Amino acid sequence: MTIGVGLIGTGYMGKCHALAWNGVKPVFGDGPKPRLVHLAEVSPELAARRAEEFGFEKSTSDWRALIADPEVEVVSVTTPNAFHAEMAIAALEAGKHVWCEKPMAVGFAEAERMAAAASASGKVTALGYNYIQNPVIRHIRTLLEAGAIGTVNHVRFEMDEDFMADPEALFYWKSEASSGYGALDDFGVHPLSLMQFLFGGVTRVMAQLAMPYADRPSRDGGRRAVETWDIASVLLELRNGASGMMALDRSAWGRKGRIAMQVFGSKGTIAYDQERMNEFQLYLTADRPTEQGYRTILVAPHHRPYDAFIPAPGHGLGFNDLKIIECRELLMRLAGKPARLVDFDEGLEIERTVHAMARSFREQRWVDVR
Ligand SMILES: NC(=O)c1ccc[n+]([C@@H]2O[C@H](COP(=O)([O-])OP(=O)(O)OC[C@H]3O[C@@H](n4cnc5c(N)ncnc54)[C@H](O)[C@@H]3O)[C@@H](O)[C@H]2O)c1
Repeated sequence: MTIGVGLIGTGYMGKCHALAWNGVKPVFGDGPKPRLVHLAEVSPELAARRAEEFGFEKSTSDWRALIADPEVEVVSVTTPNAFHAEMAIAALEAGKHVWCEKPMAVGFAEAERMAAAASASGKVTALGYNYIQNPVIRHIRTLLEAGAIGTVNHVRFEMDEDFMADPEALFYWKSEASSGYGALDDFGVHPLSLMQFLFGGVTRVMAQLAMPYADRPSRDGGRRAVETWDIASVLLELRNGASGMMALDRSAWGRKGRIAMQVFGSKGTIAYDQERMNEFQLYLTADRPTEQGYRTILVAPHHRPYDAFIPAPGHGLGFNDLKIIECRELLMRLAGKPARLVDFDEGLEIERTVHAMARSFREQRWVDVR
């Protein structure tokens, strides 16, 4: 059995989706074999080149032609944020399943329209919240559910990268208001997906946003005023009653892919950092006092589905492997089987939280997420 795949956008995430569609069958063996049918880019030349590189049969510079293609059954949307709503809704209305990159949309009303289109279509949707797919994160959830560290009282999340740290870095779409608020929706949605996966989400927020550089050089040789906030600091309350903090910075020199998480419970602590994504730290009060301390646990085949990739412990997965797992979960949901995915309904909850944070900053007060 096969499933026809369309891919819109072939940048960083487009390549990542293409690797996932190419890799899911060899890694997992089960499910339909993806047939890479149609690829869309901004020009016919780029589309044709990428189709040849990624293994797609057809290419186009008109994404609507891809969506109209009867051989395409599922569409990967990996274009910049401002296109997600229009492309995802058009694909759903054409009867296609949709795998769309995060953030879901720029405005909340657009995200609501996406969720409505998804439920009206009855098609399967998934958002690109790849970090919840890490076997380490899945195991942390199992530990939390088993009460390994007791009652969770407090969590701290940090997400930092340095791609906007240079004040002379060129102005591009991530500095435009059309891409969203900045760190909050570009970045914050990832830790929020982890909070939703591990703790059921967030109920109240109090946010502060900051813009480290007022303008950046533009391609025309001039300078352009920055329209997004590269830094965010948020106090929050989780659905389980725990207090929390989230710090986001995409102008943090030296941080390359940090999503650091500390979960403090009544009987221990769990700590994780995406920059060391193949391990986590566990501290348990149940250990003898003479040996208490953080232990480092390396990912191993019993942390499923690491075993599908590598039979040996501690060798490690990479970022692109998380997308292969996400792709497999999408195929599982398509087959009507249990799957760990953020669909458009759950994605809307993440959007609701992001917009509550932005409102909290605008109004300088605590805001309830609902
Ligand atoms: N899940 C993750 O961890 C993760 C990581 C990075 C980016 N993203 C998200 O992925 C999306 C894309 O980001 P990126 O870093 O890959 O951007 P990118 O700029 O590298 O790639 C975007 C691609 O879309 C193409 N494109 C733009 N308009 C198009 C159109 N109308 N038709 C066809 N193609 C079009 C561009 O030519 C480009 O190749 C964003 O929404 C971003 O937030 C997710």
